[in-house]
Amino acid sequence: MLKLARPEILKIEPYKPGTSKLPGKKEVIKLSSNENALGISPKVVEALRAWEPKLSRYPDGACKALRQKLGETYGLNPEQLVCGVGSDELIGLLCHAYAGVGDEVLYSQHGFLMYPIYTLRMGAVPVKAPEKNLTADVEALLAAVTPRTRIVFLANPNNPTGSYLSKDKVAYLRKKLPQDILLVLDAAYCELVDADDFSEGNELVNEYPNVVVLRTFSKIFGMASLRLGWSYTSPEITDILNRARGPFNVSMSAQVAGIAALNDQEFIKQSKAHNTKWRNWLATELEKLGYKVYPSQGNFLLVEFGNAAAVDDHLRDQGIIVRRMEGYGLPTTLRITIGKENENKAVIAALSSYKK
Ligand SMILES: Cc1ncc(COP(=O)(O)O)c(C=O)c1O
Repeated sequence: MLKLARPEILKIEPYKPGTSKLPGKKEVIKLSSNENALGISPKVVEALRAWEPKLSRYPDGACKALRQKLGETYGLNPEQLVCGVGSDELIGLLCHAYAGVGDEVLYSQHGFLMYPIYTLRMGAVPVKAPEKNLTADVEALLAAVTPRTRIVFLANPNNPTGSYLSKDKVAYLRKKLPQDILLVLDAAYCELVDADDFSEGNELVNEYPNVVVLRTFSKIFGMASLRLGWSYTSPEITDILNRARGPFNVSMSAQVAGIAALNDQEFIKQSKAHNTKWRNWLATELEKLGYKVYPSQGNFLLVEFGNAAAVDDHLRDQGIIVRRMEGYGLPTTLRITIGKENENKAVIAALSSYKK
């Protein structure tokens, strides 16, 4: 008889990814996973085709060329970058390295669900700090700190609310947090932000040894399937992550694609412009239909529907998949990823025919 799994694993509610299929529908509009409406850069696809895969060989475990390219692109020291299998892997590694049994990991009330999942995996305790207007509240986060707090995760901007904290507020949070607590700034959506007072937090990494900025290729770069993310942090934490990660964690195809994606800044510009235009359009149209839309800096909108389950069923009947929010404690809302022009228009057409 197999020994039972460690009890903390059984406390984990498995992450439910966005659905991509509907029974009986050949074609669907998938707006459930915050993927890039414009897909992936054709230059990345070209680079992957041109790449002669040496599939029998291990990838470069250090991701040297990719880190070099990231360093040049963002003006960062490549020695302080670690690549991961999505930023997701890095969230897990940070919990693994810094949170043990009984330690506390703090995040804001509607923070990204992988924070409590990886916390529970370590036998640590996830602690939520209340938000104000679906926005992280720095004072509430500080008030929730205990002697057992090891990590604070802040998604900025946050998924699924779309809200963000200004550069000054994040700096204040770092200053006021005890210095033996790690602050992880998860900047998965940072390239999509329009607010002038926002920063992904690199300047805090330069100032403090205990700040990590996480980035991903899954959102604006449209590479969700390739699984690639990275961290920028102090040499000390970089060393810890390099010890904790698998020796060949990032596949060579992801590395090749990452470099090609960074070489196509035009695609990034277009993706951002598309997102800003259609996020504004969709928000305005939803408001005209009488729905409350939360301000968003990401590639999605969180919308108050009241009976969200009925609205979701109606959208599914029309072949449109958005994200239910029960898992985030927001059962009256739906999260809608910004899509292509025809997809956004289909959402509004479907909701216009919905009888409230
Ligand atoms: C806030 C946030 N962080 C991290 C991730 C993980 O991204 P990935 O593992 O694809 O890099 C997501 C994905 O949706 C996210 O919304």
